[in-house]
Amino acid sequence: MAAFLEVENVHKAYFLNGKRIDVLRGVSVTIEKGELVSLIGASGSGKSTFLHVVGTLDAPAAGSLRFQGTSVFDLSDAEVAAFRNRTIGFVFQSHYLLPEFTALENVAMPALISRLDKKSSLNRARELLERVGLSHRAEHRPGELSGGESQRVALARALMLKPDLLLADEPTGNLDPATGEGIHALLREVNKDLGITAVVVTHNVELARSLPRQLRLTDGQVVSAA
Ligand SMILES: Nc1ncnc2c1ncn2[C@@H]1O[C@H](COP(=O)(O)OP(=O)(O)O)[C@@H](O)[C@H]1O
Ligand SMILES: [Mg+2]
Repeated sequence: MAAFLEVENVHKAYFLNGKRIDVLRGVSVTIEKGELVSLIGASGSGKSTFLHVVGTLDAPAAGSLRFQGTSVFDLSDAEVAAFRNRTIGFVFQSHYLLPEFTALENVAMPALISRLDKKSSLNRARELLERVGLSHRAEHRPGELSGGESQRVALARALMLKPDLLLADEPTGNLDPATGEGIHALLREVNKDLGITAVVVTHNVELARSLPRQLRLTDGQVVSAA
């Protein structure tokens, strides 16, 4: 059977002021369904670039990305967008919650944008808020939430459309260590209970070690960090 996610020999460079920056230089890595993987690496090593490619937000210059055997970048742009919407949930360092909506509405937003039934979407959003321990904050707006609570809401929102793969880019980067550990505990729980495969970029080596598999981005390559 094909692997859940196979990244093969991916290259990606940026061009800035006529200068070429080779960021990903032949990245190959295979991730199986249900894995929970951390990715560490120095600032500027290409972690976000890697997550953008894996998240199909950005196409590589060379190499391939296969999800369960399907070569994603061979699909049309519309097909890639539909695939991404169906398959991948994102959490970033900043929560990007919409300030004028409640926590509940923010969680439900991906479903509302996809024009799914409003009542069942709000019900699912309520369940997800409960899962992240924030039922009592459902009616709060982002300005009325702490940093850790905002990230929990962002995680619930990322789960709204039942992704197979969760990609988190330094989700604890703006949080104090204890709050960050709470987010990681939640990621472990979501991975275990929902069977969601996840890749979590983190600066925090201890948090990275708390996840079952550790990768490192270095010299444009992804290597085992264990
Ligand atoms: N849009 C861009 N244009 C030019 N250079 C970029 C762009 N995005 C990132 N870079 C450069 O690519 C390198 C990798 O960036 P990034 O993937 O954000 O690293 P990390 O997430 O590990 O800190 C850095 O040197 C960064 O300056
Ligand atoms: Mg980054």
